[in-house]
Amino acid sequence: MESVHTVGIIGGGQLARMMYESAIGLGLEVKLLAEGPDVSAAEVVHDVTVGDYTDPATVKAFARTVDVVTFDHEHVPTELLSELQRDGVAVRPGPKALVYAQDKALMRMKLGDELGLPSPKWRICDDAAALAEFGNEIGWPIIAKESRGGYDGHGVWKLDGPGAASIPFTDSLAVSAGEQVQILAEEFVDFARELSVIAVRNPDGEAVAYPVSETVQANGICVETTTPAPMMSSDHEAEIQALALHIAKELDVVGVLAVELMERPGGEVVINELAMRPHNTGHWSIDGATTSQFENHLRAVAGLPLGWTEERQPWCTMRNVLGGARKDLLAALPAVLGDGGLKVQLYGKAWRQGRKMAHVTAYGADLADVQERARAAAHYLMGDDDVMEDDGE
Ligand SMILES: Nc1ncnc2c1ncn2[C@@H]1O[C@H](COP(=O)(O)OP(=O)(O)OP(=O)(O)O)[C@@H](O)[C@H]1O
Ligand SMILES: [Mg+2]
Repeated sequence: MESVHTVGIIGGGQLARMMYESAIGLGLEVKLLAEGPDVSAAEVVHDVTVGDYTDPATVKAFARTVDVVTFDHEHVPTELLSELQRDGVAVRPGPKALVYAQDKALMRMKLGDELGLPSPKWRICDDAAALAEFGNEIGWPIIAKESRGGYDGHGVWKLDGPGAASIPFTDSLAVSAGEQVQILAEEFVDFARELSVIAVRNPDGEAVAYPVSETVQANGICVETTTPAPMMSSDHEAEIQALALHIAKELDVVGVLAVELMERPGGEVVINELAMRPHNTGHWSIDGATTSQFENHLRAVAGLPLGWTEERQPWCTMRNVLGGARKDLLAALPAVLGDGGLKVQLYGKAWRQGRKMAHVTAYGADLADVQERARAAAHYLMGDDDVMEDDGE
């Protein structure tokens, strides 16, 4: 097996920051290509290059200094990653896999048409007339998505009727940047809940899956996850884990693969989208599993054996802390840390309304209690209300 000493991470968000923590224990050196000098991971990694991840010269020069390149986000152009590979750089996940996390239209073609995996009805539309026709055929509302570049609900629209069909073509980020857009139209799945499952695969094909999480999104942003997903039979969980492992193998993913799913009222699941990097819905695993998603991602990209993924406590609930009324999170820590079964990860970011600033995870044996504690701590850190008193109750 090749030996990897230095991992290059492209993108300096909180995912890179949390990867770095795992790199320390594994003795891996990390070099970071960051968007700016004070982004989340640049606050902690000591070897930082500030540069544009879409600029070929910058990315190639960075790649020459590391043994393997991996990512904090999926926005590095696919073609640039293919060039790196042709130059002999180890890129993990590779561009042939990553493209299915970058482009939702290609993902639907691959997973839905080619692999026959559970997907909503969908169609790629080039204009408003095509979108309206799709909606008229399958029934309104429908969901429209930009094939590339969407995140946290940007580039996703729920359209109620033919009159709304032009919205994606006028509001799209790509259109405003003067690019050609492809809109992916999807059946509106009236889901009972959303789920997520994380698989990790290394270059030898060894693969593991984490317990399935139930996830809650508000305004397109993940706000809460509970692991394992409540009220799910072990057979159903095993099927969902097998689905993620199957996708990881078919797409030849190296590293983390997160599969976002929608569960219909009868229990049938359909695939929403894929991510190929540590994922917000896997943050519970930092303290909740024997091996966190960050450590397993690094083990995979470094060609190491993977670690156990089972939960260590019966229930874990993770809540995102978004920028709210409270601007100084550090000052609020003494109160939330009064709960010894609750862990906090601060991302070291400058405060901005609605920005992902931190997350909290509560652990324990009683589901309702675990959820309540995580919610109370997150609300308190956001300054939402006075759920938790300053004296630490
Ligand atoms: N076909 C669908 N039917 C119903 N709801 C949907 C559908 N597709 C997406 N959604 C809802 O919109 C949310 C955002 O969609 P999606 O995950 O594709 O976008 P995103 O902005 O790329 O999200 P992320 O931040 O996870 O990358 C989903 O979590 C789900 O709640
Ligand atoms: Mg999503």
